[in-house]
Amino acid sequence: MNIRAIEHAYKRYAGVYDLVFGGVFQPGRKTAVERMRCSLGEKVLEVGVGTGLSFSLYPKHILLTGIDISRDMLAVAQARKIRDRLSNVVQLSVMDAENMAFHDNSFDKVVAMYVASVVPDPARLVDEMRRVCKPNGRLIFVNHFHSQNPLLGTLESLISPWSSQLGFHPDFSLDRFMNKSGLLATDIRPVNIFNFCTMVEAVNNKRLSERLAMAA
Ligand SMILES: C[S@@+](CC[C@H](N)C(=O)[O-])C[C@H]1O[C@@H](n2cnc3c(N)ncnc32)[C@H](O)[C@@H]1O
Repeated sequence: MNIRAIEHAYKRYAGVYDLVFGGVFQPGRKTAVERMRCSLGEKVLEVGVGTGLSFSLYPKHILLTGIDISRDMLAVAQARKIRDRLSNVVQLSVMDAENMAFHDNSFDKVVAMYVASVVPDPARLVDEMRRVCKPNGRLIFVNHFHSQNPLLGTLESLISPWSSQLGFHPDFSLDRFMNKSGLLATDIRPVNIFNFCTMVEAVNNKRLSERLAMAA
């Protein structure tokens, strides 16, 4: 799925996203924010922030930056920030999470909620999240991964050719994600109804490029 297909898909979703994907996936967002254990004044980056459904879950004492590739999704997030007077949301920008404009080591925590199965290159996403996160900071992911249930897993494989229209990869594998990204997980736990999704918490180890250079 390329960036253009993603923008197109989420332009269609923006108006109905909260209704369809709000409540049902909120427990996963809540777990992700809780696991961050944010301290006073910490800088948090949420990539693929979408319509800002997580905003109400963050403590008031942090500084939250949100980015998204979809202007339409971000417009809803911006309206939410204004409506709810969220002074802890300090920046919302249109930006590609695989190629961010932030300096190295800019954030204490970096989180991607339901984004890793959407971006064109998940390993590149993780590498960029590592770069902008401080060494030994926290990287958090929440996502649906390819189901182990034979019936659901087969269904997900069958609909995977329509990823561009769906706006995500339904057959996104947890094992492959962990292997390709080289994440050092400190916690992996099921979240949401029927354990439909998984939260991965990781310590910010070295970037892929640094690890490859070290191995060479
Ligand atoms: C399934 S939605 C998740 C939105 C939000 N995180 C949530 O919890 O509901 C995926 C979001 O990732 C965004 N996205 C996809 N690829 C992206 C990229 N390369 N850079 C930034 N955002 C991206 C989409 O525009 C969309 O808003």
